[in-house]
Amino acid sequence: MDKNSKIVILTGAGISAESGIDTFRSEGGLWEQHKVEDVATPEGFARDPDLVLGFYDMRREALAKVEPNAAHRALAQLIAGHSGKVLLVTQNVDDLHERAGAKNVLHMHGELKSALCQACEMRSAWEGPALLSRPPCPVCKAPMLRPDVVWFGEMPYEMERIYAAIRSADLFVSIGTSGAVYPAAGFVRDAKDCGAATLELNLEASDGSAWFDESRLGKASELVPQWVDEILRS
Ligand code: OAD
Repeated sequence: MDKNSKIVILTGAGISAESGIDTFRSEGGLWEQHKVEDVATPEGFARDPDLVLGFYDMRREALAKVEPNAAHRALAQLIAGHSGKVLLVTQNVDDLHERAGAKNVLHMHGELKSALCQACEMRSAWEGPALLSRPPCPVCKAPMLRPDVVWFGEMPYEMERIYAAIRSADLFVSIGTSGAVYPAAGFVRDAKDCGAATLELNLEASDGSAWFDESRLGKASELVPQWVDEILRS
């Protein structure tokens, strides 16, 4: 890699784990505490909207108690300091990349601090009040806001921009994701097919580990700053 290399980075829950946000599939993780089909599907929302609204209100409130860690800060430094294009795509719905200073982050699975109106379909920045209290949509005033989070069975955001960046990338880097959820889990193969080098930084080998040219195993707070340092010095 050199100073003009085009880099696409995909992050997942593992990058925020050391900030104190639960991952999904680890022991005791979110999907052991809650049933996916209850809180992360349109069908679950139709069945019990209060349960779903309360779940995401609780996660949004929890964000106020956590801070970005060294891995988030290192990626923000890379974006600011690298001469070539860097696209940061995250599956995370937290705002820790932005709070570390990263610009133009693509939240392919939506954001906790955004609400989606089921009446007018507009997305609005949302800090509160709780969606469970059925506040009016800031645009059309209908009390029909839902979390602006992509549920299973729904289309992730920004896919065209992501695939365009992957097609021209020199390097694809995956950080803190288990590789269990598509389409994000397939990006490594798309990147390889288009000729990019591929690198994984994760606590343990992910489901798609075999597809990466290189896997470095360890904590994101250690591996990411080391890797960013290598790139910024290249
Ligand atoms: P997972 O919980 O599936 O995977 C988290 C990964 O991070 C695992 O491979 C862990 O080993 C790794 N990890 C944990 N702590 C780490 C640390 N300190 N440093 C580095 N790696 C660490 O989370 P995701 O892959 O992000 O989607 O999950 C993908 C999607 O599945 C989520 O966006 C969410 C979920 O269902 C939706 O809700 C639509």
